[in-house]
Amino acid sequence: MSTLKRFLKWTGLLLLLVIGAIVALVFARHDRTFEAPYPDIAASTDSAVIAHGEYLVNGPAHCTGCHTDKQHEAAYLRGEAVPMHGGYDFVLPFGHVYSRNITNHPEKGIGRLTDGEIARTLRYGVGSDGRAIIDFMPFYMLSDEDLRAVISYLRTVPGEPNDPPRTEFNFIGKALMAFAIEPMGPLDAPRPSAVKRDSTAAYGDYLANSVANCAGCHTQRDLTTGAFVGERFSGWSGMEGMNGTFFNTPNLTPHATTGRMAEWNFDTFRNRFRAGPVQPDSPMPWVNFARFSDDDLKALWAYLQSLAPVDRDPGPIIARIED
Ligand code: HEC
Ligand code: HEC
Repeated sequence: MSTLKRFLKWTGLLLLLVIGAIVALVFARHDRTFEAPYPDIAASTDSAVIAHGEYLVNGPAHCTGCHTDKQHEAAYLRGEAVPMHGGYDFVLPFGHVYSRNITNHPEKGIGRLTDGEIARTLRYGVGSDGRAIIDFMPFYMLSDEDLRAVISYLRTVPGEPNDPPRTEFNFIGKALMAFAIEPMGPLDAPRPSAVKRDSTAAYGDYLANSVANCAGCHTQRDLTTGAFVGERFSGWSGMEGMNGTFFNTPNLTPHATTGRMAEWNFDTFRNRFRAGPVQPDSPMPWVNFARFSDDDLKALWAYLQSLAPVDRDPGPIIARIED
């Protein structure tokens, strides 16, 4: 055998060994678990607390659209009550992620979880089985009071027996779970015990960034890591919506020419929210946001108006449509 052939044989073998080791590691690690504390939060049966939770779940925190299934999507978009029994299939490059059943069913829903387990999932992104929850729910900075209200309301939602399929990762997904995807909720950031609910920009800041996730869709993101790469609230060019429609989400900063709302006043803003969805394939949960109270809309408006204007034109609302 020539030296070259021998060299190729050994490097080939070595390469196979390395690939084998990586594959083995991916399979050994893809269901790795993480540690996070169980927040000291217990559901309440106080009717005012439950009512506030109902408002958050069906309104600003928009849990319903994601936690129902495709069959109920049309009803959801008509603004009808839909079961939060999970199963919505989020098709991602690395697999299928299905929303879970968050009705209070004792086996299939959150009835099987403790208040602390639910609170830990929402606050730290660590699932009840210890695995990292995919970052669909950036509620990490919710106040204790709001987290308690959400869980208190969920406890009143009659159990539905739907059992959504488990998340299915392809090999890339397993590799990401093994090495890259970690729980997103910061462990050491102090959460407020309660945030004063009024119509100020300070409360609007909390609503926009910790509850309604406006920045999550209105800021340019890197799709593989989810990292924010543009200036906050200045719009995301090419965000994927439903049915193959890609959107350029508008610039919400008060910039005189590139800000979507440059010529709006509070009434225009409120009327737009009350109107619900206009673009059929928009992922913005307008149906839930139509339920924002007037005071909360005032707070949001005050906050958005207080942002530094950013001169950025994300492009026309509809970026492109793919089959
Ligand atoms: C943008 C879509 C989206 C929104 C909005 C959303 N969820 Fe989820 N939720 C998901 C997905 C997807 C999963 C599954 C994630 C995974 O398995 O990694 C999930 C998982 C959960 C779980 C884990 C359940 C279990 O069985 O362990 C809980 C609890 C939960 N969501 C509650 C909520 C609540 C409460 C809200 C509103 C405050 C909410 N979600 C809003 C998509 C969403
Ligand atoms: C899940 C993604 C998503 C979230 C969350 C989201 N938006 Fe949007 N938003 C979009 C998209 C996509 C559009 C463009 C399509 C449309 O108008 O529905 C849009 C459009 C808008 C418009 C322009 C509407 C018009 O008719 O000109 C405003 C104003 C707006 N969003 C404000 C907000 C505010 C305030 C929040 C938080 C309370 C928010 N958005 C949360 C995705 C999102």
